[in-house]
Amino acid sequence: DWTMAEFRKTKIEEIRAQVGKGKVICGLSGGVDSAVAAVLIHEAIGDQLTCVFVDHGLMRLGEAEQVVSLFRGHYNIPLVHKDVSALFLNGLAGVTDPEAKRKFIGKTFIDVFEEEAKQVGGADFLAQGTLYPDVIESVSFTGGPSVTIKSHHNVGGLPDRMNMQLVEPLRELFKDEVRELGRELGLPEIFVGRHPFPGPGLAIRIPGEVTRERCDILRKADAIYLEEIRNAGLYDAIWQAFAVLLPVKTVGVMGDGRTYDSVCALRAVTSTDGMTADIYPFDAAFLSRVATRIINEVKGINRVVYDYTSKPPGTIEWE
Ligand code: XMP
Repeated sequence: DWTMAEFRKTKIEEIRAQVGKGKVICGLSGGVDSAVAAVLIHEAIGDQLTCVFVDHGLMRLGEAEQVVSLFRGHYNIPLVHKDVSALFLNGLAGVTDPEAKRKFIGKTFIDVFEEEAKQVGGADFLAQGTLYPDVIESVSFTGGPSVTIKSHHNVGGLPDRMNMQLVEPLRELFKDEVRELGRELGLPEIFVGRHPFPGPGLAIRIPGEVTRERCDILRKADAIYLEEIRNAGLYDAIWQAFAVLLPVKTVGVMGDGRTYDSVCALRAVTSTDGMTADIYPFDAAFLSRVATRIINEVKGINRVVYDYTSKPPGTIEWE
């Protein structure tokens, strides 16, 4: 009979056996997976682990600060916080193709991380929070020919030149199991229960060009949507919910005036592993409350629509 407590013990032994007296460096993306991997590895080898949080400025509202306080404050895990939002936003200027965005973000993440790894000095191992679905989905689409649907920036992105061995303690786990392991390790529920967030962050929720201004608009709309979902007691029933900022302007009317602003799409799905998904059937009153709040409170958005596409044929993220 398999339990998370046993998994934790076994993995700790495995990590110790693999790493020995070596130094490990772990890249944090701000998400649950890399955080759980880091906390588990820290439990196994203590200060032989250093974490580097490459902050690309494409996180949800307030989340970068949350990661830093969790690691430094709560766990006392050595953490380098590298704010490189300008580097990412400058590089994303003019980039509209989804795969080009993903590739730029993945590559830049690795470059920054590699530079920081040098500063830390002489790490022998690289830790990653890779999950089982990442391993298979980035290789091929299940049941079909070997076609890359999206290049995931946290898998296979390790350049050979880094010359480090990988430590990937979550490789056999699905998302719900990673959460269970996180709880087992004492991570706060608000963090462990958080909806999955993609490595490329808000960049793939802003079809078309990504700018700081558009990120700020999206962050506000997204926070309102999530707040309403939490208030309605629906957060845990949903696998992922988020706002998408479309590169389309439409005409509206507010008060006596004409508006000409962006469209925001809301997405919410249920799923067990992210590989297939169904839309979450909100009631009309809920959606209309969220739409009204977003349009009233977020300058730059004057229309809100709901995405009714399951996966397949859609993907969860829009890019
Ligand atoms: P899609 O959009 O392919 O997403 O249906 C499936 C799940 O994976 C997440 N996702 C990513 N996670 N790096 C990640 O760590 C990525 O590049 C990435 N792209 C998508 C997505 O949020 C969903 O949970």
